[in-house]
Amino acid sequence: MRVLVTPDYQTLSQTAAELVARAMRAKPGLVLGLPTGSTPLGMYGNLVRMHRDLHLDFSRAQTFNLDEYVGLAPDHPTSYHAYMRRHFFDHVNIAVENIHMPNGTLGIDVDAETKSYEQAIEDAGGIDLLIVGIGANGHIAFNEPGSSFASRTRVVNLEPETIANARQHFSSEAGVPRTAITVGIRTILDARRIVLLASGALKADAVERASRGPVSEAMPASALQLHPNVIAILDEAARRF
Ligand code: GLP
Repeated sequence: MRVLVTPDYQTLSQTAAELVARAMRAKPGLVLGLPTGSTPLGMYGNLVRMHRDLHLDFSRAQTFNLDEYVGLAPDHPTSYHAYMRRHFFDHVNIAVENIHMPNGTLGIDVDAETKSYEQAIEDAGGIDLLIVGIGANGHIAFNEPGSSFASRTRVVNLEPETIANARQHFSSEAGVPRTAITVGIRTILDARRIVLLASGALKADAVERASRGPVSEAMPASALQLHPNVIAILDEAARRF
């Protein structure tokens, strides 16, 4: 895993956006794997600005989001669907039919949903460039510690720590989802190229274990060491080595 340390969050965000823009220009039909969370917000902001000011064209790009809570319909304000519309999709010229997100609506056939999600990725020709964040416990997407490296899109139980972190975005404790749909570790490793984004001292330990520690299912992000084309873009605070 290559590691690029940038001085601050702003530079991290700009660097990540430029990397995506370069890939988009090289392949207009790029298939992107996209994360949510606070870390990629700056990257999305920069991509929106590049679309507005530099005509960065998303019209042929396809996107696959990495995860979504179970129990939140796409129009729920704290769903990842809503996050993506608010921070990215509503501000660029991406075609609605090229946007793919796991659907966590209660009552849907989850088995069919997870299978068709994997199928859609395959039908798109696989993910060219996958951007992923990291949880303080080393999770990637919602693959919590203990996730099999052979895992694919499925429903998972969230760790208490993950639920506690999500709490700030929900109005009541009872409203915080306990489960999510996530692409698997294998799904992530199948991407041709992976960019890991990490910002802030709270992530430093996880980043160090992910990039230099033993490769183990106890540390999901360590699976990235098995991939030949990964770059971790950090800010100075997230570096411990
Ligand atoms: C959540 C998301 C992950 C994200 C992680 C870190 O658990 N499902 O995809 O990478 O949080 O989020 P943040 O960037 O807010 O620290």
